[in-house]
Amino acid sequence: MESDFLVIGSGIAGLSFALKCAELGSVVMVTKKRDVDTATNLAQGGIAAVLEQEDSVESHVEDTLVSGDGLCDEEVVRLVVENGAARVRELVDLGVYFVKDGATSSGFSLGREGGHSHRRVAHSYDLTGREIERALLEKARANKNITLLEEHIAVDLLVLPGGLGAWDGNKGERCVGAYVMGDDGVDAYCAKVTALCSGGAGKVYLYTTNPDIATGDGMAMAFRAGAEMQNMEFVQFHPTCLYHPQEKNFLISEAVRGEGGILVGADGLPFMEKYDPRKDLATRDTVARAIDKELKETGADCVFLDITHLDAEYVKKRFPTIYKRCLLRGIDITKQHIPVVPAAHYMCGGVKTDMQGRTSIPGLIALGETSCTGLHGGNRLASNSLLEAVVFADRAAQYCRSVWPSLKMIGLPVVDEWHSGEARKLGEEILINHNWDMIRRTMWNYVGIVRSQKRLKLAEKRMISIYKEIDQHYRDYIITPNMVELRNIALIALLIIQSAMQRRESRGLHYVVDFPNKSKEIRQTCFSKKKDADKWEIELIVEKSK
Ligand code: SIN
Repeated sequence: MESDFLVIGSGIAGLSFALKCAELGSVVMVTKKRDVDTATNLAQGGIAAVLEQEDSVESHVEDTLVSGDGLCDEEVVRLVVENGAARVRELVDLGVYFVKDGATSSGFSLGREGGHSHRRVAHSYDLTGREIERALLEKARANKNITLLEEHIAVDLLVLPGGLGAWDGNKGERCVGAYVMGDDGVDAYCAKVTALCSGGAGKVYLYTTNPDIATGDGMAMAFRAGAEMQNMEFVQFHPTCLYHPQEKNFLISEAVRGEGGILVGADGLPFMEKYDPRKDLATRDTVARAIDKELKETGADCVFLDITHLDAEYVKKRFPTIYKRCLLRGIDITKQHIPVVPAAHYMCGGVKTDMQGRTSIPGLIALGETSCTGLHGGNRLASNSLLEAVVFADRAAQYCRSVWPSLKMIGLPVVDEWHSGEARKLGEEILINHNWDMIRRTMWNYVGIVRSQKRLKLAEKRMISIYKEIDQHYRDYIITPNMVELRNIALIALLIIQSAMQRRESRGLHYVVDFPNKSKEIRQTCFSKKKDADKWEIELIVEKSK
């Protein structure tokens, strides 16, 4: 398979980038399940942007910096915020419906979420992600320059020394596509530019708001290929995931608190005022830690979200999905408190990029949750992620357009076919399932909201042994999608643990009891794989401090 652009993942970042690049050349998009099975599709809250006269770029920048707790790159924050309104209007032009409100200067009905000092979240009630996904997918499916392949999982990146020549001045290694597994086994998919847009890695934890696809594939492939990674220790836990035995990952949007929802204990009493003057609208790191503390102190299984004081008809109209889903589980949210617990939600770290979405490997772009652009710092501000995805997809596409005159002349290289060698069929799925369970439990219990050096060290020891075993399976047996995902999730778990061990302070989402204060030094955890590292041994090199 050959194309000008290979896009891995079909969420908002991948689709936005693909639609723009399709104006230049051919695009192949691969997605490992169905095209709608993305984190974007589950996003409820919306997209934050400065859309009202009463709001300002300065205010959105400031809120993002405060949330990021000293680790945001201010230049990136400014870039994203300044471009926000234009990208939201572009989504509208592409057919996305955002709820309107005649009373506002912009015409948009704007929601509020934790850490925002203004109402600035454009939304489609509580189905914003689904609406964006619908509109962008419709465009992508109708575009004759885009080939969208479902049930195709990328296995590893193709990186060649001097691949494709030095069209952009880089003479060294270059990414020229990926090995992708489809119905007929693994094939080489060659491309001039490859974009990793495969979302985050929430499945590394036992409890998550993420869909099943969130196994850190893009991050893991990039790391194995030698890309620079950043800030993997910053895992955002969403404070309010529905707590119900029949629910796996149903989110109760932060917009519920934005509209007046209050967190209460089993006794019905609010508790957030004990923790932060912003109470229920404090940033997510603070709220999730407060809930964690309440649960540990009281021994309760969950806390509750109370929205019963709002007009019932308004609640049903504003949160139709949440209302119906809770009702299905026997909870009428207009009359009863909603049981909630924190769950892993978003990776603030990832593959390090520059301001055009380029990674440290020429020819390789990373966008959306897979990337670490510098926007989120130590804690992402609510509803800044869809924004980051569209702004950086646009920046990366602009870059591709600027180099297109030279890039379009280049021929694709000949690459080695995938070889299974002596590999046999595994035949014992239990070997995979057991390790999945071990990883997710270890991460939840040892590398969760509140961490300790002792637990991190224990987790590291266990994860290295699990990773070794999985990597051996990977070599001995014919690979399956489940095995590819397991190998990725084990690697990401290890990267989170080892990055967390490097940060000997508490900042943003990373709270470690042994170092409860912030260090004076502002430092990003940047690392990449050591070139000559053993095949299974992960060696991190902290390369830079800022
Ligand atoms: C939510 O609706 O609470 C999720 C929004 C986000 O993660 O930004």
